[in-house]
Amino acid sequence: MRYYPTFLDLQGQRCIVLGEGELAAAKVKDLRDAGAEVEEIGSADYRPGDLAGARLVVDASGDLEVNKATWAEAEAAGILVNVVDVPEKCRFIAPAIVHREPLLVAISTSGESPFLASALRARLERILGAEWGPFTALVGAVRRRLRARGVPLHDQLKTYQRLLASDVLSLYRAGAAEEAERVADLIASQSGSERPGRVALVGAGPGDPGLLTVAAQELLWRADLVLHDALVSPATLACCGPQAKLVDVGKRGGRRQTEQDSITARLIQEARAGREVVRLKGGDPFVFGRGGEELADLVAAGIDVVVVPGVSSVMAGPAAAGIPLTLRDVAATVGFTTGRVADGGADLEAIVRLAEAVDTLVVLMPLANLDALTAALATSVGPDRPAAAVAAATTPEQRVVRAKLGGIAAVTRAEGLEAPVLLVVGEVVDALPKGRLDHLISHLQRTV
Ligand SMILES: C[S@@+](CC[C@H](N)C(=O)[O-])C[C@H]1O[C@@H](n2cnc3c(N)ncnc32)[C@H](O)[C@@H]1O
Repeated sequence: MRYYPTFLDLQGQRCIVLGEGELAAAKVKDLRDAGAEVEEIGSADYRPGDLAGARLVVDASGDLEVNKATWAEAEAAGILVNVVDVPEKCRFIAPAIVHREPLLVAISTSGESPFLASALRARLERILGAEWGPFTALVGAVRRRLRARGVPLHDQLKTYQRLLASDVLSLYRAGAAEEAERVADLIASQSGSERPGRVALVGAGPGDPGLLTVAAQELLWRADLVLHDALVSPATLACCGPQAKLVDVGKRGGRRQTEQDSITARLIQEARAGREVVRLKGGDPFVFGRGGEELADLVAAGIDVVVVPGVSSVMAGPAAAGIPLTLRDVAATVGFTTGRVADGGADLEAIVRLAEAVDTLVVLMPLANLDALTAALATSVGPDRPAAAVAAATTPEQRVVRAKLGGIAAVTRAEGLEAPVLLVVGEVVDALPKGRLDHLISHLQRTV
C-alpha cells in the first residue's frame, strides 16, 4: 500500500492552512467542520517557526519557496503536512469522500487519477443515498442497546443483518422516519426464533445482469438464501451478497412435480426459520416459470411474499435480435405460448389457434417439438411466413437464425442452436434491414 488509510480525530486540535485562494478556504472549512482549531496564514506572512505546536498543516499557497520551507519545517517537527498538488511533499493526502453523517466513505486512487476518484464518488453517492445517514445512526443506537443488554455477538450480528434486509432503509428514503424507527425497534426487540422470514419471487431477466431490475439487485444483495433456476447466469448470481447461500434447484426443460413440491417446501421451511429467501427465476417469474403455483402455496402457508417482475425472454429475446414485436403497418398484435406442455408434448391446436389470431407469435421452449410445431404452423399460416430462432438472448452466447417457417426447424438444427431458444414467427422478423440488425447484435454482445 502506498498510503495507510485512516480517519483523524482533530477535535480541538491546532491546524494551519497556508494560502488565501478558494482551495485554501475549502480546506479551512473542511477542517473546521471536523472540529479543528484552524489558523490561517497568508502566503507572504509565513515565517519558519509558525508551524510550532500544530498537529496538521495544509499548504495551499501555491508558492514554491513557501512549499519548500513548510515541508522542511513540518518534517523536522513531525507535523502531518500536505502541500497541495505536490505529492512528494505530502505526508497525507485527502480522499474523495461520500459523507452521510455518521457514515463516511473515503476513496483514493493514491493520487493516480483524481478523475476516477470523483467518478467513483458520484457512483457511490447514488448507491448510498441520504437515507444511509439516519440508518447508520440508528444501527449504532441499536448496537449500544444490544450491548447494554448483554446480547451475545452472534445474535447482535443477526439483528444487524436483519435490519439491513428490512424495509428500514426504504422507509427512511421515503421520508417515513418514525415508521422506520418503529420497524427497527420491533426487529431489535425480537430474538432470532421469533422473527418471521420472507420469500421474494424475483425475475432474473433473460441473462444479461444489466437487465436485472434495481429491486432484484437489492433483494439479491440482502438475501440469506437464493434458490435459483439453472438458466440464471453466473454474472447475475454475482450480484448476491457475500453472506448469501446459493442453491441451484433448476432443471432445464421442465421439472417433475415432486421436485417442484420439494422446492416449495424448502421455501416455506427457510422463511419459517427467519431467513430472507429469494426464489430467483429466469425472465419473469410468472411466465412459464411456475411462479404462480409457488406464490399460491406460499400464501396458503401464511408466508410473507413479495413478487418482483423480471424482463421476460418473450420481450428481450426478439428485442436483442433486433426483431420488433410490433411495428407500425406490419404487426399490431402479439401472442406468446409454450412449445412444451406438462407431459413433454406440444398443444399444437392451441398454438395454431394463437398463430392465426395474432401478427407476431413467440414460442418459448420450442426445441423438443420443433418439427411438429413448425410443420403445424406452416400448414396453418403458410410455410413462407418469416421465422427466427433466438438462442441465449442478451448473453455473450446469443445466436440468431432466420428462415421461412417451412425451413426454420432444419436451419436451427443445422446451426446447432442449444437451449434456451425461442421461436419468433411473423412479418416483423424480416421487417428491418439486415445490416442494421448485425450491428445491433454485435453491439449488444460487446456491452454484455
Ligand atoms: C421455463 S421457460 C421460462 C421463461 C421465463 N420465465 C421468461 O419469462 O423468460 C424457459 C424458456 O424461456 C426461453 N428463454 C429464457 N431465457 C432465454 C434467453 N436468454 N434466450 C432465449 N430464450 C430464452 C426459452 O424458450 C426457454 O426454454
